[in-house]
Amino acid sequence: MKPTVRLRRLRRTPAIRSLFAENEVTLRQLVQPYFIVPGKGVKRETRPGSGLWQLSADLLGEEVRLLDHAGVGGVMLFGVPEHKRDDGKGLEAQLEPLRQAVTESKSAAATLPIFADVCLCAYTTHGHCGLVQGEKILNDESVKVLSDMSVLFAKWGVDFVCPSDMMDGRVASIREALDEHGLEDTSILSYAIKMASAFYGPFREAAHSAPGFGDRKSYQMPASNRREARRELMLDLEEGADALLVKPAMSNLDLIRDAREACDAPLFAYQVSGEYAMMRAAADAGLIDFQRALDESLMSIRRAGADVIVTYAARPYALARG
Ligand code: PBG
Repeated sequence: MKPTVRLRRLRRTPAIRSLFAENEVTLRQLVQPYFIVPGKGVKRETRPGSGLWQLSADLLGEEVRLLDHAGVGGVMLFGVPEHKRDDGKGLEAQLEPLRQAVTESKSAAATLPIFADVCLCAYTTHGHCGLVQGEKILNDESVKVLSDMSVLFAKWGVDFVCPSDMMDGRVASIREALDEHGLEDTSILSYAIKMASAFYGPFREAAHSAPGFGDRKSYQMPASNRREARRELMLDLEEGADALLVKPAMSNLDLIRDAREACDAPLFAYQVSGEYAMMRAAADAGLIDFQRALDESLMSIRRAGADVIVTYAARPYALARG
């Protein structure tokens, strides 16, 4: 018996395949992370091929001009402060490189959206995402500091403040603080579903943010829980988040799909440092083709339902574009 339906007919040529592609990945939907370090003239990749770029503010301008010109969707800035402190005070001094970076980015590419990470892990000696008393990570006290940080970012012209700390109630508190300061136009991209994941290793090296004691399991989510992920999502929406993020991406494709179906807000996924590093390492070992693996991983994240992907691949894609 010969098959009457032959799906291979629609796969016959590149032109036909592209005609019927149900999803695509475009540069406009990618956001590139940068680690902003103190000093001048600094531009280094933490390890060759890691995709994790540490830049001083003065060199961000030329980077974003390139990315903007190629059509990248935005940049996500992480601050690496000169001095760490644990009392949540002196934020402005700690964030000074970031303030300069925002100014540089705006003057080099005025319309390129800027996202800035709101969290304390890079700013404290213990490396936890909130303030700490003994071994306890304080919630409400941390939320206050994170709200102050968000107001500073918004005043400097950051378009999206992005709380990634996973404290309870921070979205509502940040929204209220922004509005009180007349910053109604600043958006909140909330890391709504963020797993206590093994895939953040290379990032912590770049941001100097590994926890000094214990782990992040008392605030980041357990990988086992799908219903809890939905609660996180809904809560952040109710609290006033403009857009939501799921991370890591590849180990949570089902949760990205759930999130897509549970609400209509813009949905981000973060292809985190460890995901990128795994593909890099496998390619370096001669086991897979890096470019094809990357293309496939980004497509699968889009197919799962993400509108925008934060990825270390945005820059290399932009450079390849010329
Ligand atoms: C800060 C933060 C982390 C990442 C994004 N924001 C690290 C962590 O929670 O330890 C990870 C991103 C990556 O691995 O690329 N809290």
